[in-house]
Amino acid sequence: MRDLLAKGENLPTLPAAVFQLHKVLDNEMAGPAQVAAVIERDPALTGRLLRAANSAAFNRGDRIGSVAAAVGRLGVDQIRAICLVLAVVKAFPNRSGSLDHSLFWLHSAAVGMMTEHLWGRFGSTPGVSGADLYTAGLLHDVGLLILEQYFQRDFHEARHEQMESGRRLWQCEEEHLGMDHGAVGGLLLGRWTLPAYISETVTNHHHPDQAEPEYREISRIVNAAEVICTEQGAALLDEGGADATSEEVLAELGCPPEETAAILDQVPTMVERAREFLN
Ligand SMILES: [Fe+2]
Ligand SMILES: [Fe+2]
Repeated sequence: MRDLLAKGENLPTLPAAVFQLHKVLDNEMAGPAQVAAVIERDPALTGRLLRAANSAAFNRGDRIGSVAAAVGRLGVDQIRAICLVLAVVKAFPNRSGSLDHSLFWLHSAAVGMMTEHLWGRFGSTPGVSGADLYTAGLLHDVGLLILEQYFQRDFHEARHEQMESGRRLWQCEEEHLGMDHGAVGGLLLGRWTLPAYISETVTNHHHPDQAEPEYREISRIVNAAEVICTEQGAALLDEGGADATSEEVLAELGCPPEETAAILDQVPTMVERAREFLN
């Protein structure tokens, strides 16, 4: 399986515009006009980006009418995150029916928002951007889409065993496939040349203690967002269940007990915003 993923044959590729966007964004001299010019080469992406930028998840002011305005208002990091998720939604159409894609994206978007929030409050790893962590949260389960589409039989068996045994889905995947959906997603994002801390975080989101020391804190944050969203009404197939509770994962991040309830209370609002963004 690792070989198959490494070769990457038949795996979805990034649309040209999103790939070029990476390159432009890696160039620190690039301004909003250059970023907008790359996106505008892809009319379908432009349309979807403007719709997303105007959803309640991102826009709290006047209507955004152009890509340049969207870049100016939301910032290049946020624009990169939105373009990436739009590309992933398109790369994995809802065909085979073994995963409910609406539920998948609702869970993913909620985990993305919670990840960015927790990062802003508790994160300290240097050189990491909040918007990139939003991307990591948003794409943390992208491996499930690959398993559903390319490894249907093994995935089905892993899910069956999860239901029979009550064990965690990621553990059953490791047993049946040799790696879990986090590792599968991390390999795809690595191929897409996303920053290493995004792919490493996705790889380790169910077992943050296995991450290399420099990626451990951010992996813990995505894991905490996953546990919180799963417990507070944005679950996906029970895949986000963990042996620790929301309170415990927050305490591990250094959250004082009196702040816990306020963080958990944000999940329904995040789910609402996610719903609108995905519509
Ligand atoms: Fe997961
Ligand atoms: Fe998840």
